[in-house]
Amino acid sequence: MARFYQKFPVCAVRGEGAILYDVNGKAYIDCMGGYGVSLVGHCHPKVVKAIKEQCERLIACHGSLYNDKRAELLEKIAKIAPEGLSKIFLSNSGAEAVECAIKAAVKYTGKHEIISMVRSFHGKTLGALSATWNPKYREPFEKILNKNFKFAPFGKLDKVEEAITGNTAAVIVEPIQGEGGVYVAPHGFLEGLRKLCDEHGMLLIFDEVQTGFGRTGRMWASEHWGVKPDIMCVAKAMGGGMPIGATIAREDIMNSLKVGEHTSTFGGNPLACAAACATIDVIIEENLVERARSLGSVFMNALRSMVDEFRILREVRGLGLMIGLEARVDIHNILLKSIERGVILLYSGKNVVRFLPPLVISREQLSKVAEALREVLVEEESRLKITG
Ligand SMILES: Cc1ncc(COP(=O)(O)O)c(C=O)c1O
Repeated sequence: MARFYQKFPVCAVRGEGAILYDVNGKAYIDCMGGYGVSLVGHCHPKVVKAIKEQCERLIACHGSLYNDKRAELLEKIAKIAPEGLSKIFLSNSGAEAVECAIKAAVKYTGKHEIISMVRSFHGKTLGALSATWNPKYREPFEKILNKNFKFAPFGKLDKVEEAITGNTAAVIVEPIQGEGGVYVAPHGFLEGLRKLCDEHGMLLIFDEVQTGFGRTGRMWASEHWGVKPDIMCVAKAMGGGMPIGATIAREDIMNSLKVGEHTSTFGGNPLACAAACATIDVIIEENLVERARSLGSVFMNALRSMVDEFRILREVRGLGLMIGLEARVDIHNILLKSIERGVILLYSGKNVVRFLPPLVISREQLSKVAEALREVLVEEESRLKITG
């Protein structure tokens, strides 16, 4: 395999709920959740059943033919999507969902500039990478990235306003920046962006690839602020582990793309659609959105008390079960030591530990995570010779 991924010393062979088992049978509480994919848990029985049933009927079906499972999924998404967002393009990943959003915004407005945010992450295909801020990902390819993307500091409305020109088609933003360090949009920011977009004839694109489907304690993170986007991008958790993404937009916006102007061979394939139907059912039937809210607040309190206790910690940020714990040190060692104790955590930049556990995780499992982390922090402070 190409050496593109930073590897951790776990060979996972089986998963159940919030637990991953390695090749030796060792169990890990999975707070990485496949970077936010395993929201309904690993191998949720309803998702497994849906995949099994569908793969015996029809696995592939190009978008140029109709399909019953795809239709069922489109209906389910339209039911839970923010009001007014009723046209859906199905793809296979978050980056693809963003590509479609960019093209739709440009086509609809007839303009060609996009404002994105400092610290943003929208994927690594060339269009999505043009909207992604991190110089580490951009610099090697800077010469072939699109020059019509500008970056404004996240949370600074006046700076966004300064970046607007007569050519600005859209503003793209994550309501909570995930890869950038788990930063929640400050009060008034998204509301202000909505207003600016309306005043200047620009579209507001919310990238909910990481925040969507209940992760933050609301079905869509945008609901925390009561702001409706014109286009929304989703993926990750949507397929219960199967690759699927969607761009969801107002009908008039989607209709601006003509037949053939944006397609995907695998997009909307029945197998991924069956998994996504089951995933959405599970999220609703098992009240996972509410669960993210209540478990998230308990867990964040546990982390806050650690921030008071350990000098190497700086702060806790997040909503629901999308949480970042910022340290004053590189967290690599903390991640490795946690793995030894049977907990898989995630980076969000060099010094932020990110938690994206399945929403089906139990209170006991979260307590075990907190306990293991506390032990690791004690060790880490003593290794770094930091004393209270
Ligand atoms: C907010 C956001 N947008 C887009 C993406 C890209 O998704 P994918 O890796 O499925 O292309 C990610 C992935 O982490 C993300 O967090």
